[in-house]
Amino acid sequence: MKYKRILLKLSGESLMGDKAFGIDNDRLSVYADQIKEISELGVEIAIVIGGGNIFRGVQAEEGGMDRTHGDYMGMLATMINSMALQAALESKGVQTRLQSAIEMKEISEPFVRRRAMRHLEKGRVVIFGAGTGNPYFTTDSAASLRAIEMDAEVILKGTRVDGVYSADPEKDPNATKYDMISFDDVYGNGLKVMDMTAFTLCKENDLPIIVFDMDTPGNLRRVLNGDQVGTIVRN
Ligand code: GTP
Repeated sequence: MKYKRILLKLSGESLMGDKAFGIDNDRLSVYADQIKEISELGVEIAIVIGGGNIFRGVQAEEGGMDRTHGDYMGMLATMINSMALQAALESKGVQTRLQSAIEMKEISEPFVRRRAMRHLEKGRVVIFGAGTGNPYFTTDSAASLRAIEMDAEVILKGTRVDGVYSADPEKDPNATKYDMISFDDVYGNGLKVMDMTAFTLCKENDLPIIVFDMDTPGNLRRVLNGDQVGTIVRN
């Protein structure tokens, strides 16, 4: 395997599958199968999942709700997804631990860095819920932060698009996909990989990001094999 320890960032919206809201069980199961596959190959896996399929802080603000309040609701949404993923993984025999950035001790361990590291060393998949625990930070920022804290070698950003393009492929037929691109070129060309807070954290800590299509079964293992899948962003 190309990487020993990874942080996998999953989008909440992808969990919807073809549904308009919530969690699609088939999609969840496909994700769990892919994670199980690489876990069995010995890869240490930390996961951060978004909450946009359930609640988005930005929408709340448009409706007149205080941004901070909406962001906390979004953090709770990530916990619902985290618990769903945990259950899906455990039903397939994968050992997991869930840690939350906001204390909710009846349903999750609190985030304790050293404990999370031990879980990873023991081969447990560790899911980090509730983002960073702070408003104004996205789950991409949580993913960058946890990846750095866990000494992960790479962030694997699973999305519906299969990499970083020179323009929006849905709008520009001439858009081309990069196999590899530097952080500076992403910035210089005005491309978007993650929000700037998350992006800068990765750049400054020399943490590469691989953007790939997680909805194609087997892709996660291909990335771990070192196959050319998606786009790698690095210094
Ligand atoms: P080791 O000590 O390394 O074997 O780790 P462990 O996670 O198995 O130990 P522990 O006995 O602490 O945890 C057993 C189970 O309780 C695991 O499923 C944990 O996720 C869960 N657990 C531990 N702490 C908490 C907590 O504060 N709240 C909740 N809800 N569950 C917890």
